[in-house]
Amino acid sequence: MKVTSSDIVISAVKPEQYPAEPIPEFALAGRSNVGKSSFINKMINRKNLARTSSKPGKTQTLNFYIINDMLHFVDVPGYGYAKVSKSERAAWGKMIETYFTSREQLRAALLIVDLRHPPTRDDISMYEFLKHYELPLMVIATKADKIPKGKWQKHLKIARETLGMDKQDEIFLFSSETGEGKDKIWGALKKYM
Ligand code: GTP
Ligand code: MG
Repeated sequence: MKVTSSDIVISAVKPEQYPAEPIPEFALAGRSNVGKSSFINKMINRKNLARTSSKPGKTQTLNFYIINDMLHFVDVPGYGYAKVSKSERAAWGKMIETYFTSREQLRAALLIVDLRHPPTRDDISMYEFLKHYELPLMVIATKADKIPKGKWQKHLKIARETLGMDKQDEIFLFSSETGEGKDKIWGALKKYM
């Protein structure tokens, strides 16, 4: 897709703050620091519209971005970051659960995993959570630039098996550095719009 405009709409923590426009929406999910915000930036050709950081825990709110006035990407705080308190973790869980279980225009969740390593226990839990609520889901294995091309298929297979992915669910390679996978993923998103 040719992206001609993109902007942040709102950083939300509760449903009253979610944008009202009933346009197709895609939400990111994934471990802290895996590259969710970087994914959004690369998909829309922006350097730092979604704020990124080399330290985990950068994204703390549900950040809604509007693309070409026709769809939303929602950047979501990551999980699995050790240095958060119990109460912070509980607040995160509630915010995520409320969003994923109540958002009418949500067309699919994009679960971002790190291609270099097998998915973590938290990744598996997130996959199962999304499946439990019967949300359409795509898995994106990012940081592909960090491993040699010859190993991509093997790592994809490990990710698919470790998550216990359903046959019909798709997994895509991605790199925010090189843009690998971008066109294929836009093609897949179009099917949900
Ligand atoms: P939280 O907001 O903490 O949940 O993290 P996030 O998932 O949004 O990660 P973010 O996009 O901020 O990226 C984390 C770090 O990984 C940054 O230093 C990025 O530059 C780096 N990174 C993200 N994607 C890629 C990629 O595809 N390749 C490489 N080499 N680095 C990446
Ligand atoms: Mg982020």
